[in-house]
Amino acid sequence: MWRRVASLSPLISSSISSYLNQAAYKFKIWESFTTDIPTQAKGGLFSKGKAPFITFVLGGPGSGKGTQCAKIVNNFGFKHLSAGELLRREIASNSEYGAMILNTIKEGKIVPSEVTVKLIQKEMESSDSRRFLIDGFPRTEENRIAFEKITGAEPDLVIFFDCPQEEMVKRVLNRNEINAVGTVDEIFEQVRPVFAGKLIG
Ligand code: C5P
Ligand code: MG
Repeated sequence: MWRRVASLSPLISSSISSYLNQAAYKFKIWESFTTDIPTQAKGGLFSKGKAPFITFVLGGPGSGKGTQCAKIVNNFGFKHLSAGELLRREIASNSEYGAMILNTIKEGKIVPSEVTVKLIQKEMESSDSRRFLIDGFPRTEENRIAFEKITGAEPDLVIFFDCPQEEMVKRVLNRNEINAVGTVDEIFEQVRPVFAGKLIG
């Protein structure tokens, strides 16, 4: 299995490094062709019968990933899972891993793959959907390997919203990022219109 994924693997990792460097600029899709039936069928994602259709969605902030995910959900009936969101939910639930996840995110590091994969797996197993958009995952090659190992499933598609840094910054600026250089009052004059007209009562 992962026949194509074996050659896909360097593609994924190089895409991730360009995603992290935010240097390249294309919309890329890879399809992984699975030739074998996954072997880890017992009691896992495959136990419900029909194998899930899994899409990994990658892209930086401002890449349009979130917008396109919403469209994919609406058009194709996917269940959208965001790895970052699942981790934040886990923090909020005060679970056994909450504090560790919080510290890891605060430090800007990647949460141990096993923890993230298990959260994703739990969501997939409790969902009625068989189509999953997994957003913000994998962030590392280790993430990808752990996903395959733990779930026994492979992505059917990998979509990478590869956007030049300049364009992403422009888009993020349009989300009211404020130029924070200046005096307190100068900066507040930029902040004020963001709220003006939006607050009622
Ligand atoms: O994708 P998002 O920006 O929401 O992720 C927030 C944080 O969650 C990341 O900065 C990282 O610390 C953590 N994360 C992770 N592994 C992932 C996705 C997110 O550790 N696969
Ligand atoms: Mg996010």
